[in-house]
Amino acid sequence: MEKRFYIRDAKDYTGQEVTIRGWVYNKRGHGKVKFLILRDGTGLMQAVIVQGECDDDSFARFDDLTQESSVIVTGIIREEARSVGGYELGLKSLEIVQIAEEYPIQPKEHGAEFLLDNRHLWLRSRLQWAAIRVRDNVVHAIRDYMRDEGYVLIDTPILTGAIGEESGTLFSVEYFDLGQAYLAQTGQLYLEAAMFAHNKVYDFGPTFRAEKSKTRRHLTEFWMVDVETAFVDNDENMDIQEEFIKGVVKRTIASSTAELEILERDPEIIMKSISKPFARLSYDETVDFLKSKDFEIEHGQDVGGAAETILSDNFETPVFIYDYPKAIKAFYMKEHPSRPDLVKCSDLIAPEGYGEIIGGSQREDDIEKLIARIRADKLPEEAYSWYLDLRRYGSVPHAGFGLGVERMVAWMTGIKHVREVIPFPRMIYRLNP
Ligand code: 4AD
Ligand code: MG
Repeated sequence: MEKRFYIRDAKDYTGQEVTIRGWVYNKRGHGKVKFLILRDGTGLMQAVIVQGECDDDSFARFDDLTQESSVIVTGIIREEARSVGGYELGLKSLEIVQIAEEYPIQPKEHGAEFLLDNRHLWLRSRLQWAAIRVRDNVVHAIRDYMRDEGYVLIDTPILTGAIGEESGTLFSVEYFDLGQAYLAQTGQLYLEAAMFAHNKVYDFGPTFRAEKSKTRRHLTEFWMVDVETAFVDNDENMDIQEEFIKGVVKRTIASSTAELEILERDPEIIMKSISKPFARLSYDETVDFLKSKDFEIEHGQDVGGAAETILSDNFETPVFIYDYPKAIKAFYMKEHPSRPDLVKCSDLIAPEGYGEIIGGSQREDDIEKLIARIRADKLPEEAYSWYLDLRRYGSVPHAGFGLGVERMVAWMTGIKHVREVIPFPRMIYRLNP
């Protein structure tokens, strides 16, 4: 196929004739000079249509164009500081591919529900376009970082027999003669098995939670990166997370300059928050700190969204909360050696109120304690028999964590609600489009 021109490469084509295949973003002008703002998926460019400088048919076709009509235009690229992107096209010919019907999304304020109902079209809007590109950059940053650090990608299953985090929030499906299968809440348990084969492993995939949480931080389908490392304790696990976040943030910002500008997100604010060592508070210290800020919390309660916001108001960096009460954490977390009421784990709270972005822990490697927890939590023991094998054959201290991709992208883009940083959000009340 012949090499195509894309708007983002305009600077390499000054003075040359190019063809843009794209859509009408906007148009204006009458009389002898008219303007078309075109988008081709890589950027926006103004095309200038001057009567006499393009063929007469093309000039006449301008009047038929509606918002989002698809077109093929040819013309000469020239520098124009006042135009979007710094370049414009002197149009020579205009071919119409399709005249769009009246477009539902107009350049005006629409309500969130209307836009979500039209998500299949809303994706074309400028802020959404930028947000999804930042997401792409975050995904690449994560994969590149992990590979550079020597981690092996393991694709863990989505249909599972064993459960991962909490039995109360599982989606189930009929699975032939085998009864119920469950949609994965995390790849972690499978990743632990692969860790014994490869030492440093990660997974990257969709995860599912039938949570009744209707907050700006919750989806029922979201993407998670789980990381698992052999011969690592909980403190080292936090070190790994801190380096990981710093690396992913730097790579994302370096690759997202144009998008962050469109989103009016100041990269300096993000960079400043990762420029110092991350704060680390034990759960006990966190409860005391919250109480000192007149926040109502009892020892033993979980640290919820409102408490997370107080923490990020008071710390410049992301904050680790470590060593939570055993009673509010998952069965696989390692019991604290001197405080059996606690587990060796950590949550990482993002700055600026973006909430918990990572949950991690050292894993229980004492098989007797693990079995006791499985029984205490009334989990189906048979489903975990293969997991227990991992403690029978070469058990080692190990730890890992899971990053919520949408919460990470929300923080990077400055978008408050995770539903806008995934192409097609799944929430309690939304399955369409
Ligand atoms: O804290 P969580 O539940 O941890 C785990 O699933 C562990 N198995 C991970 C591990 O140790 N390998 O989930 C990890 C992260 C959270 O910190 C949060 O960022 C995100 O996943 N998350 C959600 N994101 C959007 N919507 C939801 N309903 C989410 N639930 C968790
Ligand atoms: Mg968590």
